[in-house]
Amino acid sequence: MTLTTALTRHLKSPELFRGLADELGPWAGGQRQRFSVFNPSTGELLAEVPDMGPADAHAAIERAHAAQETWAGLTARARSDILWNWHRLILEHSDDLAAILTAEMGKPLGEAKSEVQHAAAYLQWYAEEANRIYGETISAPSTDRRMLVIKQPIGVVGAITPWNFPASMVARKISPALAAGCTVVLKPAEQTPLVAGAMFALAKLAGFPEGVLNLVYASEGDAIGRELCTNSKVRKISFTGSTEVGRLLMRQCSDQIKRISFELGGNAPFIVFDDADIDAAVDGAIQAKFRNAGQTCVSANRIYVQSRVYAEFAEKFTERVRMLKVGDGFEPDVAIGPLINQEALRKIELHISDAVQKGARVRSGGRRIKLSGTFFEPTVITDVSRTMRLAEEETFGPLAPLFRFDDTDHVVREANDTIYGLAAYFYASNLKRVWRVAEALEYGMVGINTGRMSSEAAPFGGVKQSGIGREGSRHGLEDYLEMKYLCMGGL
Ligand code: SIN
Repeated sequence: MTLTTALTRHLKSPELFRGLADELGPWAGGQRQRFSVFNPSTGELLAEVPDMGPADAHAAIERAHAAQETWAGLTARARSDILWNWHRLILEHSDDLAAILTAEMGKPLGEAKSEVQHAAAYLQWYAEEANRIYGETISAPSTDRRMLVIKQPIGVVGAITPWNFPASMVARKISPALAAGCTVVLKPAEQTPLVAGAMFALAKLAGFPEGVLNLVYASEGDAIGRELCTNSKVRKISFTGSTEVGRLLMRQCSDQIKRISFELGGNAPFIVFDDADIDAAVDGAIQAKFRNAGQTCVSANRIYVQSRVYAEFAEKFTERVRMLKVGDGFEPDVAIGPLINQEALRKIELHISDAVQKGARVRSGGRRIKLSGTFFEPTVITDVSRTMRLAEEETFGPLAPLFRFDDTDHVVREANDTIYGLAAYFYASNLKRVWRVAEALEYGMVGINTGRMSSEAAPFGGVKQSGIGREGSRHGLEDYLEMKYLCMGGL
């Protein structure tokens, strides 16, 4: 991999990361074709990365498969020790990892630093959980037999990670797999391969045996995804990305009834009831809507505000949005970085023009910012209705539509009226209402009086067409373990 000075000038230890993929094995370097990675804030070239194909993915799977038995045969403590090493190295190099992340993805440096800390927290959590894999004994129905359940690693895991959280998603998928005793082939998003490469360079220093972790870079993900899904040596696919791609991968996995964990699209409602603390709700909505410029699967997509507090909320919220500074993530005080590409800009523009045509009013923002990158003004619109595209589709950008509602049952019905079921949020103080709404929302995760809930200690994932399985917490480890029932007779 060739890194340019546009990237290395931000790094304290450029030498450590210059090798990146080349460090990971002869298959990753060489004279093969390469693809370019650009900074979305400036358009500058950051690196030329080896462009791999299905044959490379196949070879990586072979290596992972060859290492599987040895890795699974280590004690849990030995696996945990290596994860701890990786955790320590990631923290030691967190400034450089954050700089690489900001350069290739655009998010503000403060957010990138907190993402790297979050990635390290997953490694810490699963270094600990590795030692807590338990089976069970069952009281047998006859005296001449004993019955028990053991847990074993599922085998080689294919992991496909997105560009919006290019460090924490790698850690969230890989660390439970490794703790469980699985080996891994990772395909990071083509827009953001560099931080994954840097994390793998540190993994190598941490002492993972040859073949346990394998990285496949590719400018076109389809062929790699197909190889991972259809190669019978891969026993599980873990994917974060759109529902559309999730459906395709699920179909490809179906011939082999392959295990899957998918975290897919969302259309999160954020509901403000009239008994809420409005200032706290404004804070929460800013977080839930504008973190990562609205490019998170759990971003608030539809903000519902009860009529009695609508005007107050809209005014305070819009005032705060106007203060959000947009710009290059390396500049101080920037809260909103660029969108990932031109297509993302077109989608937000489409949602705004469709809404305006159907009667919505732009209260703040609403336009591209004419800088060299892909910047868009943080936008608030009111007078929105369910007939607009933004009510059905995930915008994945800094657009906050404010819906008005009167009745609790009605807003819960509207909030649930979507094919998605990842995250929902609401602000209220009446305990009866809090329980009723929390239980009625058809979502995998519900934030109550908070705009942020992602944590290594909690099960992250969705229902309906937002996904299958959970990541994080002890449940995230179970997703990489098979249960085996042992029955001893003739006793
Ligand atoms: C996401 O998966 O898009 C959100 C991750 C996070 O909130 O950390």
